[in-house]
Amino acid sequence: MADSGRHPNPKLKVLVFAASLRAESLNHKLATLAARIAEENGATVDLASMRDFDVPSYDGDLEAAQGIPAGAQGLRRRLTDNDAFIISSPEYNGSIPGQLKNALDWASRPFPENVLRYKPCAVIGASTGLFGAVWAQAEVRKALKASGAHVLESELPVGLAESAFTEDGRLADDELTARLHDLLADLVREVESPVEEAA
Ligand code: FNR
Repeated sequence: MADSGRHPNPKLKVLVFAASLRAESLNHKLATLAARIAEENGATVDLASMRDFDVPSYDGDLEAAQGIPAGAQGLRRRLTDNDAFIISSPEYNGSIPGQLKNALDWASRPFPENVLRYKPCAVIGASTGLFGAVWAQAEVRKALKASGAHVLESELPVGLAESAFTEDGRLADDELTARLHDLLADLVREVESPVEEAA
């Protein structure tokens, strides 16, 4: 889609969420850039990281006895308070980080009337390897779709991420930068004109 750079939407509130616990996370760097571009285009951004949420392993007995635990409630509130969200996910052994899976499993409860349902979202990712966490992105999208979210098909694989960013936190590669702008524009369109649910 050739729509780089212009997607003003003063009304959009978006949660941008890095799914790594690491302080020096490359996915946090990517999430910060996505947040910055969204803000430059008029959105109100809520930038978060997995470190902000003390999410326990999903446990059906705990849910039955005590409901949703406080750490997971925090993430659910942030999802509810925003029109859309973006997850920047690392890839661990070809798959989604366990902590993110637990967070999404808690967010998906109770199913189907959960905070993810119909929520427009996109998944991006950075890795130190060549492929930019594409497998993790595909799996995060799958889990989000299963939970009822409206997930963009666009992905943003930032490979060799230790050298992918400029000193001021931009992406050195113009094509990747254009893809990030396009993805944000697609997300705005999804918020403004959500795809109708099949009856
Ligand atoms: C990795 N890494 C990695 N990278 C990748 O592209 N595909 C993979 O399957 C894996 N697997 C993997 C497993 C484990 C346990 C670790 C610790 C790391 C490397 C990964 O891309 C790198 O550590 C990133 O820096 C992690 O993201 P953050 O924490 O920088 O956001």
